[in-house]
Amino acid sequence: MAMRLQSLLLGVLLLTGFAAGDGKTTAVIPSRYSSASLNRSSFPSGFVFGSASASYQYEGAWDEGGKGPSIWDNFTHQYPEKVIDGSNGDVADDQYHRYKEDVKIMKDMGLDAYRFSISWSRLLPNGKLSGGVNKEGVQYYNNLINELLNKGVTPYATIFHWDLPQALEEEYGGFLNRQIVNHFRDYAELCFKLFGDRVKHWITLNEPYTFITFGYASGELAPGRCSAWQNLNCTGGDSATEPYIVAHHFLLAHAHAVKVYKTKYQASQEGVIGITLATNWFMEPLTSGQYPHSMQVLVKERLPKFTQEESKLIKGSFDFVGMNYYTTHYSSDQPHNNSANASFLTDARVFESTELNGVPIGPPAASSWLVIYPKGIREILLYAKHKYNNPLIYITENGLDEFDDPTLSLPQSLNDTHRIDYHYHHLDYLRKAINDGVNVKGYFAWSLLDNFEWASGYTLRFGFVYIDYNDGLKRHPKLSASWFKCFLG
Ligand SMILES: *[C@@H]1O[C@H](CO)[C@@H](O)[C@H](O)[C@H]1NC(C)=O
Ligand SMILES: *[C@@H]1O[C@H](CO)[C@@H](O)[C@H](O)[C@H]1NC(C)=O
Ligand SMILES: *[C@@H]1O[C@H](CO)[C@@H](O)[C@H](O)[C@H]1NC(C)=O
Ligand SMILES: *[C@@H]1O[C@H](CO)[C@@H](O)[C@H](O)[C@H]1NC(C)=O
Ligand SMILES: *[C@@H]1O[C@H](CO)[C@@H](O)[C@H](O)[C@H]1NC(C)=O
Ligand SMILES: *[C@@H]1O[C@H](CO)[C@@H](O)[C@H](O)[C@H]1NC(C)=O
Repeated sequence: MAMRLQSLLLGVLLLTGFAAGDGKTTAVIPSRYSSASLNRSSFPSGFVFGSASASYQYEGAWDEGGKGPSIWDNFTHQYPEKVIDGSNGDVADDQYHRYKEDVKIMKDMGLDAYRFSISWSRLLPNGKLSGGVNKEGVQYYNNLINELLNKGVTPYATIFHWDLPQALEEEYGGFLNRQIVNHFRDYAELCFKLFGDRVKHWITLNEPYTFITFGYASGELAPGRCSAWQNLNCTGGDSATEPYIVAHHFLLAHAHAVKVYKTKYQASQEGVIGITLATNWFMEPLTSGQYPHSMQVLVKERLPKFTQEESKLIKGSFDFVGMNYYTTHYSSDQPHNNSANASFLTDARVFESTELNGVPIGPPAASSWLVIYPKGIREILLYAKHKYNNPLIYITENGLDEFDDPTLSLPQSLNDTHRIDYHYHHLDYLRKAINDGVNVKGYFAWSLLDNFEWASGYTLRFGFVYIDYNDGLKRHPKLSASWFKCFLG
């Protein structure tokens, strides 16, 4: 589990530089990011450039059109104090109603593809086929997919991006219960059946590592579970066991969904299926069918076991790996503390840091975990190539955030040269990785629009496009959107 470089998904830019502008002059793309030196043609032909999103962070319409509640609806409504600004995704970017406008923005930018996620409880309000399929939900995704295709933007669909139907959480504890495996498989199959004639790239799960860490070990994200001894106001839980149980069910749910796709749909639909990971430890079971040896030794009887058959099912259960790369941290040995209670958070005995001897690995973004280290994208890709037998990889997320700052004028807020710098350098290192032989076929920036950033609410902005939450969610492209458009040509 311990890697020298640990890259986590989840983004203080010194905003003082902005004070220089008077907020009226038009911002220009600095010449050092000129598309004359780095642009689409620096990548192999057919390489896909897109942007990524997630249903709960974008869609809104939380109880419209027949949608059932998800664990994120309940978490934000019941525990608003767990979101920094007390906000929620009830409306978010309202993409449910504005998808046409958003697809037009993508087309205007020259993006090839859009990675979005399907809301499970919008298709299946109580999580199960037996509870009925919500026709309005089906219509929404048909409309979105058709609009994308009409505008020449290829849809990439994530089947699960954290918004589990609340009904399954209440009925049997959601991902803590083995029953989730069959229900996820059924839901995934419904997606293949309904949309697989047009969606040719499927991502089963988004960042299981982040979901189990924050949902079941620290309790900061839905469903907000952790051990009582941590005094973190969790809704119940056990940080020593539940993260592993949930991870186990994730792996089985993923593998069963892949099996259904490969045996019943792939030949006729001719698509591919994979999983999106924060680059921590899920690759080992996916490639070997086993948990890493170090993990078995450290976690012992708290680590669930795969049967031989399950092991076979999981091993190699992907056509491609989606990698979300934002940052790189240092890691070092964390001595074991015998008097502390066990937790998933300490089991790996790794101490993670954004600095070494007081020197940060790179400049900070707004999120404390997001230190900027563009070289890391090449290093982790080379690591994946050598360690896991050169898999096909898509970068399914990469981006940085700035703080929402109400003291800035709109023109100042749109002058995001830091974002241009970030993407420019990451793309440059990505190009180098491809030249080194890493098999990467696409790059999805996070994110098209500013959006609901989980426990950080609307205090952080990750978008190429500024959302004016005080003016009817008006979309204003930032300078980075113009830069990306020039880059894409
Ligand atoms: C945009 O920001 C850069 C620094 O990041 C600054 O040099 C430039 O003057 C700003 N332009 C405007 C119009 O505010
Ligand atoms: C794109 O970049 C290449 C160098 O990689 C350069 O030769 C070419 O002129 C650039 N194209 C445009 C349209 O700027
Ligand atoms: C979840 O929220 C719904 C309303 O949206 C409410 O009816 C239900 O009781 C909540 N579930 C729990 C466990 O509190
Ligand atoms: C737990 O909840 C109490 C009461 O709402 C609050 O005062 C306290 O700060 C919370 N603790 C944490 C760690 O969130
Ligand atoms: C070990 O854990 C105990 C209980 O949480 C704590 O009081 C103590 O400070 C820890 N020791 C070290 C060296 O971190
Ligand atoms: C360990 O957990 C038990 C309950 O399971 C609790 O009573 C105890 O205070 C915890 N110890 C520490 C050091 O947190």
